[in-house]
Amino acid sequence: MRFAVALCVLALFVATLALDNGLMRTPPMGWLAWERFRCDIDYKNMILNSSHSWECEVLFRDMADRLAEDGWRELGYVYVNIDDCWASKDRDSNGRLQADPKRFPSGIPNLASYIHDRGLKLGIYGDMGTLTCGGYPGTPLDKITIDAQTFADWKVDMLKFDGCYSNATEQEQGYPAMSKALNATGRPIGYSCSWPAYQGGLPPKVNYTQLGEICNLWRNYGDIEDSWNSVLSIADWFFNNQDVLQPAAGPGRWNDPDMLVVGDFGLSMDQSRSQMALWAIMAAPLFMSNDLRTISSGARTILQNKVAIGISQDPMGVQGRRLIKEKSGIEVFWRPLSDKASALVFFSRRTDMPYRYQASLGQLNYTTGSYKIYDVFAEREMATLKDSTHFVVSINPSGVVMWYISAPADQDQENTHIGGKLRGPAFHRHANGISPIVL
Ligand SMILES: *[C@@H]1O[C@H](CO)[C@@H](O)[C@H](O)[C@H]1NC(C)=O
Ligand SMILES: *[C@@H]1O[C@H](CO)[C@@H](O)[C@H](O)[C@H]1NC(C)=O
Ligand SMILES: *[C@@H]1O[C@H](CO)[C@@H](O)[C@H](O)[C@H]1NC(C)=O
Ligand SMILES: *[C@@H]1O[C@H](CO)[C@@H](O)[C@H](O)[C@H]1NC(C)=O
Ligand SMILES: *[C@@H]1O[C@H](CO)[C@@H](O)[C@H](O)[C@H]1NC(C)=O
Repeated sequence: MRFAVALCVLALFVATLALDNGLMRTPPMGWLAWERFRCDIDYKNMILNSSHSWECEVLFRDMADRLAEDGWRELGYVYVNIDDCWASKDRDSNGRLQADPKRFPSGIPNLASYIHDRGLKLGIYGDMGTLTCGGYPGTPLDKITIDAQTFADWKVDMLKFDGCYSNATEQEQGYPAMSKALNATGRPIGYSCSWPAYQGGLPPKVNYTQLGEICNLWRNYGDIEDSWNSVLSIADWFFNNQDVLQPAAGPGRWNDPDMLVVGDFGLSMDQSRSQMALWAIMAAPLFMSNDLRTISSGARTILQNKVAIGISQDPMGVQGRRLIKEKSGIEVFWRPLSDKASALVFFSRRTDMPYRYQASLGQLNYTTGSYKIYDVFAEREMATLKDSTHFVVSINPSGVVMWYISAPADQDQENTHIGGKLRGPAFHRHANGISPIVL
């Protein structure tokens, strides 16, 4: 009972820390154009092919249709997000941003209503600075109020605010100012800040307490690319810095390791499951950047895995951690979930053949009891394991085995993992025992 009380107090603590717009209490999910579609190629196509001048707008309508009709929306994938290169090179006569009329001939408000009609939400992109990274008009300090109001007038639901073409001083003013300006419009608009990525991602330059107060999510690190190297280097950076990053996350405020590239060209099926599993452990936003019109059924099955999504969307909102980094190349990740459940991911960095990894839940610091194990990607119940039972999992090269572990039914334990103490910022200073160990 004492533990339950502590959790309630912590919940209050977290609530006052998070940006107070009521949004994104679980990591946001949807689709984001950038990694798969960028803008240059599309732009060239548009110039070359006048019969195709609607390409850009049609892309977003197509993705909205797919999200609504192919079972994505019901699973939580509700955002349809535009990235850079949507704007006209010039502001209008009132100093407002306007969409490129060739790429968005019917305008953003129209696209917003198309998307809202399908039970989805629209995200847009801006940049704290004189220009966007792609060279389109940015939002310098004196344009923050008018741009926030423009997005609200268009009924936009989320803003990704990049940071090209500004310096540290301007960013320090601009990111909090945009948060205030969005709030002042009265429209709830999810706010994604690229600020920490421009500060190197770590304290003392980055103040994660402040970020949690002004942003719903933030990009800490570089852009993802469609390759396993890119996915792996991002995951490594986030888990190597988990002592700093893990306590920063919670309901309404998330670390963002960038888009899911599952369904593109660079990842094998095993690597795709690894990205999905590690992003769920990290409580990462799940923004797919792929072509939902032509996605393979294998990739779709991974992205639509209900238990993996359930782990990602756990209402307690505690980001997971790497528990173990073995010399053999096996790593074990853990995330505590509501109802005393948890998730484990066994991941192999090996490049030879499936590896048989032996452990027991006790070795992973689970307390005495019997646990029901569900294999997330095999989609089946496994044997019930006692904490002391030695088990072997076979992990493919660059693949994962992911388990959803129910609390022991026959037990009224206060928590089921020694790391259960690690419920968020208030407990973090006690969590030294959870740092990665080499066995
Ligand atoms: C603006 O901030 C206030 C105070 O933090 C909050 O109560 C309100 O819901 C916010 N409104 C929007 C639209 O974000
Ligand atoms: C122009 O669009 C048509 C119709 O989609 C397509 O078949 C053709 O390949 C495109 N041409 C170029 C140069 O992109
Ligand atoms: C940042 O940019 C502003 C506006 O261009 C300029 O006034 C200021 O001196 C710059 N600060 C630094 C530290 O470069
Ligand atoms: C970080 O931000 C918080 C909240 O805005 C503030 O109270 C604290 O002083 C800041 N920490 C540092 C080291 O600047
Ligand atoms: C288990 O807990 C002990 C004591 O807190 C700690 O030293 C050890 O590193 C933990 N092991 C794992 C795998 O987390």
